[in-house]
Amino acid sequence: MADAALPAPRTPDPADAPSLGWGVLGPGEIAGDFVDALQRHTGQRVVAVGSRSADRAERFAVRYDVPRVHVGYEALVADPEVDVVYVATPHREHARNALLAVAAGKHVLVEKPVAVTAAQARSIFAAAAAAGVFAMEAMWTRFLPQTDVVAQVLERGGLGPVSLATADFAGGGSADPASRLLDPAQGGGALLDLGVYVAWWSHLVLGPPDRVTARGLLGATGVDEQATLVLETGAAQGVVTTGFRGRTAWRATAVGARARIEVAAPFWAASGLTLVGADGTVAGAWEDPFGRPFRQGLCYEAAAVARAIAEGRSEHPDHPAATAVAVLETIDAARHELGYADPPGWSA
Ligand SMILES: NC(=O)c1ccc[n+]([C@@H]2O[C@H](COP(=O)([O-])OP(=O)(O)OC[C@H]3O[C@@H](n4cnc5c(N)ncnc54)[C@H](OP(=O)(O)O)[C@@H]3O)[C@@H](O)[C@H]2O)c1
Repeated sequence: MADAALPAPRTPDPADAPSLGWGVLGPGEIAGDFVDALQRHTGQRVVAVGSRSADRAERFAVRYDVPRVHVGYEALVADPEVDVVYVATPHREHARNALLAVAAGKHVLVEKPVAVTAAQARSIFAAAAAAGVFAMEAMWTRFLPQTDVVAQVLERGGLGPVSLATADFAGGGSADPASRLLDPAQGGGALLDLGVYVAWWSHLVLGPPDRVTARGLLGATGVDEQATLVLETGAAQGVVTTGFRGRTAWRATAVGARARIEVAAPFWAASGLTLVGADGTVAGAWEDPFGRPFRQGLCYEAAAVARAIAEGRSEHPDHPAATAVAVLETIDAARHELGYADPPGWSA
């Protein structure tokens, strides 16, 4: 619902974006949800899927009606019908897979986190820029209508001087020490899996921090299972929490001298927000009316990518390379402070 105190989102209808041919690299859980969102809400064409296994590729293709099947990611990125590759493998594989797609001359959308370190992220974006192709981290929350409402309020200074950003995203995890969520070699830990969302929120509201302070707990496998970060940008603070040891409320706020925004749970998917005055009275409210809950909201980032590529851009202004790299610099700093050093091979 629009509200006089809050601007309407400028988010275009995802169904209207120019239609590109997408190739899915790594047919796992999120890849299925991404394809489902595209097929329900956009005119994007999922033309091919690539898997390390013929059987997994075939099953995904049958389930989601994908016409072309490739065994091996090299074959997928070489497919002339594929305009843009969606990298949906585990974090540790992102840089290798994204660089493969870029080397084949394909545009690329890489699941979050775009890489396990800021250095790897830089290498992806540098290669894409050199090849003249588009590259973006799949920070889909940035492309939700509610985030555009927040962005407009911040652009207009509607909160007054902003002193605080808060966000929490903890939950999930795994009981299996070999799972990608707990194995350091695979980029385990809450910061890399969920913490990118809360760190990104602080970057959105306050900009990149001058100073990162982290407190948290490493589990038996050596990865962070709980972390709270203070991200200081000038005199403003981002206070953000992530973890696997319990489920938090999944809310986010931006607090200024005149007003604050409270994004309802789950802040990272379509929900709603409230504008609260400094005296505590509700000044405005906006509830997402578009009916694309949870991961159906992945349709917005896909449409934004298609538009940016059609416009000849190499990155998206709402989630450029610099932001994705800066968020990973924050995660790197927090991980290292908690004692979770880069496992061997992460420099590549
Ligand atoms: N945007 C979101 O809301 C969201 C939600 C969940 C996850 N994600 C992100 O998406 C990525 C994938 O997560 P997921 O939960 O979809 O993972 P998943 O279900 O395990 O699927 C990952 C796929 O990657 C391929 N793969 C390539 N190398 C692999 C390796 N070394 N180990 C395991 N699989 C490998 C596998 O496909 P083949 O072997 O068949 O090729 C597998 O099906 C993660 O980076 C995660 O952060 C994003």
